[in-house]
This record gives sequence, structure tokens and C-alpha cells, in this order.
Amino acid sequence: MAVGTVLITGGTGYIGSFTSLALLEHGYEVIIVDSLYNSSEVALDRIERISGKRPIFHKVDLTDVEGLDKVFAAHPNIDSVIHFAALKAVGESAEIPLEYYRVNVGGTISLLSSMKKYDVSNIVFSSSATVYGDATRFENMIPIPEHCPIGPTNTYGRTKAIVENIIEDFISAQRQNLKKANKPFEQWNGANLRYFNPCGSHPSGIMGEDPQGVPYNLLPLLGKVATGDRPKLLVFGDDYPSRDGTAIRDYIHVIDLARGHLVALNYLREHKPGVKAWNLGSGRGSTVFEIINAFSKVVGRDLPYEVVPRRQGDVLDLTANPTLANKELQWKTELTMEKACEDLWRWVSNNPKGYRQEPPPELLAG
Ligand code: NAD
Ligand code: WQD
Repeated sequence: MAVGTVLITGGTGYIGSFTSLALLEHGYEVIIVDSLYNSSEVALDRIERISGKRPIFHKVDLTDVEGLDKVFAAHPNIDSVIHFAALKAVGESAEIPLEYYRVNVGGTISLLSSMKKYDVSNIVFSSSATVYGDATRFENMIPIPEHCPIGPTNTYGRTKAIVENIIEDFISAQRQNLKKANKPFEQWNGANLRYFNPCGSHPSGIMGEDPQGVPYNLLPLLGKVATGDRPKLLVFGDDYPSRDGTAIRDYIHVIDLARGHLVALNYLREHKPGVKAWNLGSGRGSTVFEIINAFSKVVGRDLPYEVVPRRQGDVLDLTANPTLANKELQWKTELTMEKACEDLWRWVSNNPKGYRQEPPPELLAG
């Protein structure tokens, strides 16, 4: 029998597919809802190849209330939701803010309404370190603890902060209303997981990040430079007050991140804490130059780059203080940024067309 049944929105996407895999490997039944806006059904094949189990899949848009209701109605054993589905490009969010609020905020409201209707009472939400904005504006807030005041500096980040608040208000109201009616209320719980910079791929080389459009994150772009799809990397600023002048981020391997979701869900089910926020990061900051060096080492040659002015909205340092997750969830990162570079290169070099091609037979043979 399954440990539990979890609905995963955005489960064919990058982090969602690795989390679906982790849950299947730990005895959960997984039901995925995704519109395939930024992902492909091939992710399901790769999850099955690695775990021997295939998630159930429904192609449904998060904002389609009836479609979501139908999924909950078809699977009455769903007891929890992990909510990834969202638009996530910071730059784009400034250009089409209403679309970001419609999907990220409106979509979450649809989801919570369905959860209420079908009495599904645990939610783990993909928040982001972006909610902190520039934590260097405070003294002693680097590495960033969860009690650092939030203050997102872009529309995407504001959608995440708003959804965190919506989840807090919703779970709190569910608990209060049930308590007043003398009904059990403790089963309503939520986790706002603030991820730092997810990266890396599956060590098998057959599963990784495969966005539909052009990547804009540092490591996927470096991958494109290494395969020759891009002539060079543009380094956004070397005039930051850091050890080498470039900005500092906390890069976390997607496999550690996926395990973070598993333990957060288990914590909600066991401890019934109400709503909690946890940072999921390593606590180790790396500069852009350090990432270029680590990835170049894995590739075996120097990768070309050019320093250009700072990117608007970038901050000096986003490094996690992960102590709370270490203590409460008994979770800490086990894989390094260097290992993420290694795994990313195995994925990118063997699958230049991502999921639009079969991986080389020697990787499939395992
Ligand atoms: P992703 O784009 O690979 O995955 C998101 C998935 O949601 C995709 O499969 C996409 O098709 C789906 N989706 C988008 N809009 C939808 C809609 N309206 N209905 C149904 N499905 C829809 O992104 P990811 O990197 O895996 O990110 C997953 C979550 O984690 C997102 O909420 C993102 O904001 C958050 N996050 C990502 C990062 C990061 O750097 N990758 C960092 C912090 C937080
Ligand atoms: C990392 C560092 C850049 C590209 C974003 C979102 C955040 C989260 C993760 C979703 C920065 C530098 C980058 C390039 C560069 N996503 N860089 N040249 O900006 O830390 O975080 O993704 O929630 O919300 O804001 O990630 O990978 O874009 O940048 O020099 O071509 O690399 O300036 O210092 P970021 P990133």
C-alpha cells in the first residue's frame, strides 16, 4: 500500500519531476497535474525508467477550476498537494505582470478552493529566496534566516510572497472554523519552502532541466556555452563588494531539493504544525566566477565569458541560513555545487536536444 497519495502541480517541470521521482521512490502514489506550458510528457518516461514507477498524469491548467475539481474527484485518496506550477521568469514578470498574478496567484486560489472542497489538507508550496529581496539592507542577515523580513524586488517574487500569505490565511481559517465547530482541525497544514538556486541533473544523465524556451539561469546558460550553442557567457557585474567582485548565490542540487519536499511533507503529516516557512539552501555561497571555474573544470576547458554591467534587480548575496530545516526537518544538503556541475554536464553533453531525443544507449543501459 502507498504511504500516501500526493497531487503534484507542475510535476513534469524541472523541480516537480525530481520531486515526483523522490516521492515514488519513497512509497508515495503520485498524481501530476501540468499544462505542459514549460515541460514535456517525456519527463514521465524518464521518471519511470529510473524508479520503475510511473506517475498518473492529467494535462490540466491550474486556472481551470472545473478541470482541477475533476482530478480531485477522480482520485479521492489524494491527501496532500505539492504545488510547483507557476510562471517563473523574473524579467518576463515585469513585462506581463497580470499574467503572472493570474497564473501564480489566481491558479493557487483555484487549487486551494479545490483542496477545501475535497478536504485535502496538506500543501507544500514552491516559494523562493527571491521573497527576501536584498537582505544586505539589514545588518547580520547574511546568511539569510527565515525571520529576515521579506521584501521582493520584482513581480515574480511578489507573486510568491502573496501566495505564502494566502496559504497562511487559508490554513489558519480552516483550522479556526473547524475548531469553532468542535471538529478535528490539526490536519490542515502548509509548508512554504524558500528555495535558493536549484541546479544540476540526475546522475544517470537521462533526466534534467529542459525548458521550452531560452534559459536565463547561470548554470543552464553555461551549459549552452560549453556545447557551443552560445558564444560566451555574459557576467553581470564584477563590481560587487564580494571576494572577486561577482554576486554570490547558494546553489542547491535538485536532488537535495526534491528530498527537501519529501521531508517537509512527512513533517506536516507527522507534526501538524500549521503553516511553516523553511529555507532550502546549502548555507554555502558561490560567486559567478567560482561557478564558471567549477563548470569549466568539469568540461575540461576554459569557457569564454565577458563582464558586462550589473543586471537590473540583481542583489549582492543570497545565501541561505538553513539551520531551521537542518534541525526541524533533519534535512541538509548532501550534494555539492561541484557535483551539480558534473551532473549538469553529463545531462547537457549527452542530450543536447533535451527530452526531444532519446539518450545514448549506454546511459539507458544504466
Ligand atoms: P518549470 O517551469 O520547469 O516547472 C513549472 C511547471 O509548471 C512546468 O511543467 C509548467 O508546464 C507548469 N505550469 C506552468 N503554468 C501552468 C499552469 N497554468 N497550469 C498547469 N501547469 C503549469 O519550473 P521549475 O524550475 O521546476 O520551478 C518549479 C517551481 O519552483 C515554480 O513555482 C518556481 O517558481 C519555483 N522556484 C523555482 C526556482 C528555480 O530557480 N528553478 C527557484 C525558486 C522557486
Ligand atoms: C545567478 C547569478 C546573476 C546569468 C533567479 C530568480 C530566483 C530563482 C532562481 C525562481 C546572478 C549571474 C546569470 C548570466 C550572470 N528562481 N548571471 N550571467 O537571479 O540568482 O535567481 O533564479 O524562483 O527567483 O531570481 O539566478 O541563475 O539568473 O543568476 O552573470 O547570463 O548569475 O547576475 O548573480 P538568480 P540566475
